[in-house]
Amino acid sequence: MNIKREIQEKIQNTINFHSLSNGKDIQVRFSNHSNKFGNYQVDGLSNMLRSNRISLKEFGKKLLLELSKQEYFKKIEIIEPNFINVFLEEKWINQQIDCMLSEKYLSTIRSENTEKNMVTIIDYSSPNIAKNMHVGHLRSTIIGDSIVRISKFLGKKIIKVNHIGDWGTHFGMLIAYLKEILRKNSTQNITLEKLEEFYQESRKIFDQDKEFSKISRRYIQKLQSGNSELLELWKNLVHITISENQRIYKLLGVSLKKKDIVAESFYKSMLEEIVEDLKHRKIAVVDKGAVVVYLEEFKNKYGKPSAVMIQKSDGGYLYTTTEIACLKYRCQKLKADRILYYVDSRQKRHLQQSWIIAKKAGYVEENVKLEHHQIGMILGKDKKPFRTRSGKNVKLFEILEKSIIKAKQFISEKGLKNSRKRNILKIARKIGIGSVKYSDLSKNRKTDYIFNWSTIFSFIGNTASYIQYTYSRANSLIKKSKMNLNEIKDETFIATNSYEKIISMHLLRFVEILQETSQKGLPNILCNYLYRLSNEFSKFYENCSIINVQDKTRKKNRLKLVYLTKITIKIGLNLLGIQTISKM
Ligand code: ARG
Repeated sequence: MNIKREIQEKIQNTINFHSLSNGKDIQVRFSNHSNKFGNYQVDGLSNMLRSNRISLKEFGKKLLLELSKQEYFKKIEIIEPNFINVFLEEKWINQQIDCMLSEKYLSTIRSENTEKNMVTIIDYSSPNIAKNMHVGHLRSTIIGDSIVRISKFLGKKIIKVNHIGDWGTHFGMLIAYLKEILRKNSTQNITLEKLEEFYQESRKIFDQDKEFSKISRRYIQKLQSGNSELLELWKNLVHITISENQRIYKLLGVSLKKKDIVAESFYKSMLEEIVEDLKHRKIAVVDKGAVVVYLEEFKNKYGKPSAVMIQKSDGGYLYTTTEIACLKYRCQKLKADRILYYVDSRQKRHLQQSWIIAKKAGYVEENVKLEHHQIGMILGKDKKPFRTRSGKNVKLFEILEKSIIKAKQFISEKGLKNSRKRNILKIARKIGIGSVKYSDLSKNRKTDYIFNWSTIFSFIGNTASYIQYTYSRANSLIKKSKMNLNEIKDETFIATNSYEKIISMHLLRFVEILQETSQKGLPNILCNYLYRLSNEFSKFYENCSIINVQDKTRKKNRLKLVYLTKITIKIGLNLLGIQTISKM
């Protein structure tokens, strides 16, 4: 049960029932000092109190009427001038621990889903053709993927989409380069590595050589109007890139498959009709041969509505045109209720402009939620975008390979128990890839951060290996106890000291954390939770004897907490796309 949401609802009910206003600042927070501040603290009440001329005490009384009917509720404390502390019933918390051990636990999580009939589309990763995925694509890929996993786990209807950039005008240059300079008509034996070089080379020539740029433009026109020879060549370029990307997804443990690709080119047959429709309905106008939408919502530097081009004077279409078609498809064909874009913050304007145009055209209805879940940049030590010494983009594959080598070193330095040779590579992968992913997922996706190998691998602090280590510790405790789950379960749970109480409360919060992570699209919420749970587990482990405790009931109760910590970490890490290690 999501207690935080429960309390929020009770506050809302109180406000509605008494026709109070201005309640939007009110927040419910989990408290770390439950004996002092209760399990949850209500904050941000002052605006509501002031506008309704109601005292905190009076409001507290009204809220109490709502809460006191609830079995989880023990008492509230009014803390002047504007806090209310909510205490949960300990007996109820204990019962919940037993509920979590029952087989039905996971299905009850799903049954709490309030979005059963809602379709959410998650657009993530979305790299471009003829380019290696670089470290910048790491964030969108793994953050998007973990939100997909968590939302599905909660029972939401999710469609994941890899919106690959395969239909830009720049393919004209690349094709011209292959055909005119290399005199190549086939792509046999061309690697993605080579393609990227050709692409950069073609760009340079395009900028300098008028003849070449003319040819490139002709090729792109021919390609866009469906020339079969060029389409064949282009298909091969797409194939080379996608195969390489899938290899990275596999190594990275990302759930995107080929069937999740709905690339830009998918929408090409819709573009002409959309431009005509927008022109016909006077949303777009022809300006110097190009088709443009003027948006009042975005002013240019002279304070005039800014112009968004949807068709060039040579007939070519743009990234925005495809975006509008894509919105139409997602809303009208896939019946999306919510679309999340895990896309670089620098594309904010592009997305907003496309959304406004699609809404004006009625392709997207008012109640559809469009959310840009912005992604900040990964920086190098110089605080500039992370690049190699020679100034090139850092390739994602290289980072992943390096992480495995570094993890091997880490394992041998720490002298991990399970370092038998055949296991080393397997564990190094789990630690290496897991650590790179965790170091990213644990930061707020909106902010830029500096990539630093030296803080990624550590058994102390907020790292993957610390949490993986906690998992393997809990796992060995269960093994050592020589008790199976049924034996552990056969007694009623009672927390007897503060360590047990604190860890119980943290275990209970798991659903609340997952729902919040999925709603906000912020995996760092789940990371921080797993870190805190691991910390509380360490304290519990150090201060409470578990295997050697004499009292049988107490032993079983403690093992319940160990068991639940173990599965919570396992589910939590797996939802982040990180693997656990049973013995370290
Ligand atoms: N291909 C783009 C890039 O690499 C990202 C596309 C994101 N998705 C979208 N619907 N625009 O920057």
